[in-house]
Amino acid sequence: MNRPMLGIFDSGIGGLTVVKELLKRHSGASFVYLGDTARTPYGNKSPDTIIEYALEDAAFLVTKGATVIVIACNTASSYAADVLRATYPDIPVFDVIQPAVDAAAAMPEQCIGIIGTKATIASGVYETRLRAANPDLRAVSAACPLFVPLVEEGWTDRPETETIARVYLAPLLEKSIESLILGCTHYPLLFKVIRKVVGDGVSILDSPSALLDHMERELSIPEGGEQNMYFTDNNEYARYFRDWFGRPFVARRADIDSRDRGV
Ligand code: DGL
Repeated sequence: MNRPMLGIFDSGIGGLTVVKELLKRHSGASFVYLGDTARTPYGNKSPDTIIEYALEDAAFLVTKGATVIVIACNTASSYAADVLRATYPDIPVFDVIQPAVDAAAAMPEQCIGIIGTKATIASGVYETRLRAANPDLRAVSAACPLFVPLVEEGWTDRPETETIARVYLAPLLEKSIESLILGCTHYPLLFKVIRKVVGDGVSILDSPSALLDHMERELSIPEGGEQNMYFTDNNEYARYFRDWFGRPFVARRADIDSRDRGV
């Protein structure tokens, strides 16, 4: 039996917000991370392609020894979580959607805004699950397709980003949302801009903290093993890792071969 290890993946660097939250709470957590930077963004791909990429990402992590899969991507969680659970019946698979839904449904606010990629919003998964959790909740959503490329480009603090955020968030503010789910793991990196646009009166809920709360209830976080980061392409942002995580990490190159899925 392998030593327990979390296998965490995202389309790019967004899932590092999950790694950051993980390391904040468990600095010795054992994990292997995969950012599929060669194929990001996933949010404008078709459901079939998103599922195919998610299967390849998970297979890569399993070959690296992951004993738990964490889908640190709302887009992949929206379409591929059930497929991954069926593919790996013996491996716990965590997705980012349900923990955020449960946290939002437990809040006193009744009008909830959701932002995410085109694919996540088109799936309607948040609205469906929020209604199932509490039929009295009102939910209104907006796709923000430019947010992921802006984050991947490092434009987290630019006036242009704020202008775009105002356009995306205006329809939600018109509906007087009281809370906002950041339904994409890239979006916590835009927290300051989003806070400025929505104002202090709106509660902001991000998926990494909801996910970690949920995982801590469900399993004992494995510690004491390896901590590895893999990317399928450009890993130039590794130079920021010391700022983001308080320590450096090596960014390794991952070769994902679809003929090698092992499933
Ligand atoms: N971080 C992914 C998510 O949570 C971004 C998706 C994308 O690549 O478009 O949805």
